[in-house]
Amino acid sequence: MAVGARVSHAVPTAAIRGPVLTFTGDPFKEGLDHTMVYETDAIVAFGDGVITHFGPAGDVADKLPAGLAVRNYGPDALISAGFLDSHVHFPQTPMIAAFGAQLLDWLNTYTYPTERRYADKAFASAVARVFLQECLRNGITTSCVYCTVFPQSVDALFEEAERLGMRMAAGKVLMNRNAPDYLLDTTKAGYDDSKALIRKWHGKNRLMYAITPRFAVTSTPDQLESAGALWSEHPDCYMQTHVSENKAEIAWVKELFPGRKGYLDVYDHHKLCRPRAVFGHGVHLTDGEMGCLHTTGSAISHCPTSNFFLGSGCFNLARAKQKDRPVRVGLGTDVGAGTSFSILSTLSEAYKAAQLNTYALTAGHAYYLATRGTANAMYIDDKVGSIAPGMEADIVVLDMKSTPIIDYRMQFARDIHEALFIQMTLGDDRAVQATYIAGHLRYSNEKR
Ligand code: GUN
Ligand code: ZN
Repeated sequence: MAVGARVSHAVPTAAIRGPVLTFTGDPFKEGLDHTMVYETDAIVAFGDGVITHFGPAGDVADKLPAGLAVRNYGPDALISAGFLDSHVHFPQTPMIAAFGAQLLDWLNTYTYPTERRYADKAFASAVARVFLQECLRNGITTSCVYCTVFPQSVDALFEEAERLGMRMAAGKVLMNRNAPDYLLDTTKAGYDDSKALIRKWHGKNRLMYAITPRFAVTSTPDQLESAGALWSEHPDCYMQTHVSENKAEIAWVKELFPGRKGYLDVYDHHKLCRPRAVFGHGVHLTDGEMGCLHTTGSAISHCPTSNFFLGSGCFNLARAKQKDRPVRVGLGTDVGAGTSFSILSTLSEAYKAAQLNTYALTAGHAYYLATRGTANAMYIDDKVGSIAPGMEADIVVLDMKSTPIIDYRMQFARDIHEALFIQMTLGDDRAVQATYIAGHLRYSNEKR
């Protein structure tokens, strides 16, 4: 699909040039031909944090203010909306790649002892800096982040995200049972702390609060009810949690909530299924549960590197996208159970998960998932996730020849679809050349 030059009314103060990939709609619904835009030589201009112009370089150049410098990334680059990560645990950055356990043992052995350290604000701030730098190095411009039970860990993340000008969702983990005492809150303290954090952060600059009951196992019915009540008082916040990730977890939830129809029904019963709910994993959901997600406008975050690493199973994307009841699906790294901050690597694993379900995920659909699709799952596709005038200027610039083997393989790519597939299969953080946040260059791999 081709686009003409499009403009917004803000005054551009910077511009970049190169091949551009973006999406104007949902290819799972409308097909790639109607939604994928690829311009071989385009200009994207921005000012005041938003994109002001986008179109073929020849059309846009003479619409820019005289003397505006245009940074040309050249024909071997790819300019895209910044990547989004709809499920990630920043406190688990220091324990990514922890050996040998499946979910429940992994939590007890590695995760909980690590999360204890975030009672210390200075430690939390140091990790938040590393985490957000790693996001930028991988072209991730927006994430939906789990912090820890300690409110100061939320402050640490939001302070750094605000300094960088990032659009970021995050929240304090709620957990009042079935975890070590040192990590437990109470229903009342969890509610009060979350409410105070919402007042402090939600809607400040580009920050968004996510009410975060960790999962049904670690919250009493009373705490889930209180999370539902808090969300109804602040309906434009997010709600994030985990669902149906691992079989032992599912069996435990059945024991803990014998009166409920299934795992998702535990959340639905407590008014936690609706737009801006982001459920991590959903590997083992039933068709009925998929129907509930569709009807309530809830989203799943598909986290393939984590699902393979913890041996959780293989999410069936084709089933989630079934035409009669499509579910909003975002992509998630789920670091530290996820094994990479790289969205390209995550797409490669999403492709393999789909293959194991006998479904071939095209590169076009995959890049949609990494950008506009995840923005759609988070209900912010009117703000980020695509390149168009008026959208926030969160942009990643890829280098399409980032390693010797990619450079070699690219000579044989016959079209953009093959080129994109090579990038997602072989590429990683080395492919990220530059990351812009609200029009500011926040990461560049250029050697100084
Ligand atoms: N379920 C509950 N907590 C977690 C977590 O930290 N990571 C993952 N992958 N699953 C969870
Ligand atoms: Zn998770």
